[in-house]
Amino acid sequence: MKKLLSTIACLGLSVSLLTGCASTPTQVEKEVTTEVTESAQETLTLETDVIVIGAGGGGLSAAIEAHDAGAHVILVEKMPFVGGNTARATGGLNAAGTTFQKEAGIEDTVEVHYTDTMKGGEELNDPELVKFMTENAADAVAWLTDLGADLSDVGSLGGASFKRAHRPTGGAPVGDHLVNVLYQNTEQRGIDTMLNTEATEVIYENDKVTGIKAIATENGEKTSYIIKADAVVIASGGFGNNPELYTKYQPQLDGFISTNQPGATGDGIILAEALGAALDDIEQIQIHPTVHPETAALITEAVRGNGAILVNTKGERFTDEMSTRDKVSAAVLEQEDQYAYLVFDQGVRESLKAIEKYVAQGLTTEGETPEALATALGMDADTLKATIAAWNDSVKSGIDAAFGRSAGMDIAFEKAPYYAIKIAPGVHHTMGGIKINTNAEVVNTDGNIIPGLFAAGEVTGGVHGAERLGGNALADIIVFGRQAGTKAATLAMADGGIGATTVSEKEEASTPKINETATASFKDGVYQGEATGNNGTIKVEVTVKDGFIDTIEVLEHHETSSIFMSIQNDLIPDIIYNQSTEGIDAVTGASNSSTAVFEAVNSALTTAK
Ligand code: FUM
Repeated sequence: MKKLLSTIACLGLSVSLLTGCASTPTQVEKEVTTEVTESAQETLTLETDVIVIGAGGGGLSAAIEAHDAGAHVILVEKMPFVGGNTARATGGLNAAGTTFQKEAGIEDTVEVHYTDTMKGGEELNDPELVKFMTENAADAVAWLTDLGADLSDVGSLGGASFKRAHRPTGGAPVGDHLVNVLYQNTEQRGIDTMLNTEATEVIYENDKVTGIKAIATENGEKTSYIIKADAVVIASGGFGNNPELYTKYQPQLDGFISTNQPGATGDGIILAEALGAALDDIEQIQIHPTVHPETAALITEAVRGNGAILVNTKGERFTDEMSTRDKVSAAVLEQEDQYAYLVFDQGVRESLKAIEKYVAQGLTTEGETPEALATALGMDADTLKATIAAWNDSVKSGIDAAFGRSAGMDIAFEKAPYYAIKIAPGVHHTMGGIKINTNAEVVNTDGNIIPGLFAAGEVTGGVHGAERLGGNALADIIVFGRQAGTKAATLAMADGGIGATTVSEKEEASTPKINETATASFKDGVYQGEATGNNGTIKVEVTVKDGFIDTIEVLEHHETSSIFMSIQNDLIPDIIYNQSTEGIDAVTGASNSSTAVFEAVNSALTTAK
């Protein structure tokens, strides 16, 4: 029995599976010959041009580029929201020769970025991949800027000869911002995104990839899919949250904390290996030196890049804080207690917005003087006072005689209060993975490409060699995500393909629909309500027209924006469809934010009844 994609909602797979599903079916039904076949085994079959597995920064970039090259794209993501590890990235996106560097008078070049990257990676990197990444990173910054990103602030990260880490104004965290911008762009383009959907197999028939098998889960119910396509892009991230897998390659990492999101389990590597894909540098796993040990929160390298120092529990500096992560991590682990403190002053705090999050999370200890800070930390006051005085001398002279640090020396610690954050090394990035060429095509163990299979981002190996430089992960995922999407679309569209839908069709289709059984229950007007979410007030404005809830606009929120997008794209259309918050499930993994939105809407509607 053949059914159009629009019947997915009727089959109980609903709105939160296909992000914006209220709109997607109409658009697909109208425009595209996409079909769903319901077999006796309840396996549904979809058809598209390009499938992208993984909705982190690499997958979102691939989906946008494949769409813009004319392909119809389905993006599958096993987690309940988009973003992957990208949403946690903080420090910046490395690129040389950008307009932002030029405006700041930074005379960096692609060649130096290349040399720094190879040196950081101990020359184990694939030189062709590094060349491609460094040559295309500035264009990635320009592309993201065109999509709406703010990457205008340029800062220092470890192992870089110049300031080249691009991030939002004031040094705000970069990852969540990029995910937000990229996801909005996939939404504007009408790209179908299936959340809670795990790719279980890449299908290979007649010497080429022809699609994937996937399982979607909603409310505990599982539905099997076969999604047919001419090209598949694996962008499902690394395995930094799969201790079993990373200790297989590096047993000494047993017991380390990880900065990674729960979905970073390396599934894409297993999918590709099943088709004979070669793996590159799989045993190269990065530990990041500054992770808060009790919460596993990543404390961005940009804190050191903007001036912070590291001191041990005696209050002494012990290393060049701006060296590569392996060296700084090793230095921390050599200290008696195997942890240390990042120390900085109010001047450093004011130079980097990313620090505000750590203060808000209660990760900082503070003191009005270096001695007071030392006392609060239980360390010798005179030692910390002397360490800070010596550091201030180094900043003023530009010479760090003790450890040879040469970056992140712009701010002497002269403004109270003084801060410390406890840190220890944690697993951060898996540098090895699927072998690709510069077309982002997956290469098999015989050295041949696997036709129709592409990969990008942390799931791949070869770009970073033995040690990745901070800021190169975002350069990698955006450059190769774009490349994978473009090349996948070129392949898929060679025979005409199904073709992308237009922005206006998506906009037309995205008007929330109201359940036809709903009755007019409210007084016309505009009503505001608020409630408290995870990070503060959530304020909404509900407009009632002809007795029905017509729109719900979020006027204020402080939640993680990539997570809150699921609320705006799924939960709010559901409330409008139902004309009530009753019986609507919270977005998985965002239950506090969902509950606050329900409360805010109900509070607004109190006077409308
Ligand atoms: O420290 C950081 O902000 C991490 C950056 C990165 O892993 O590229």
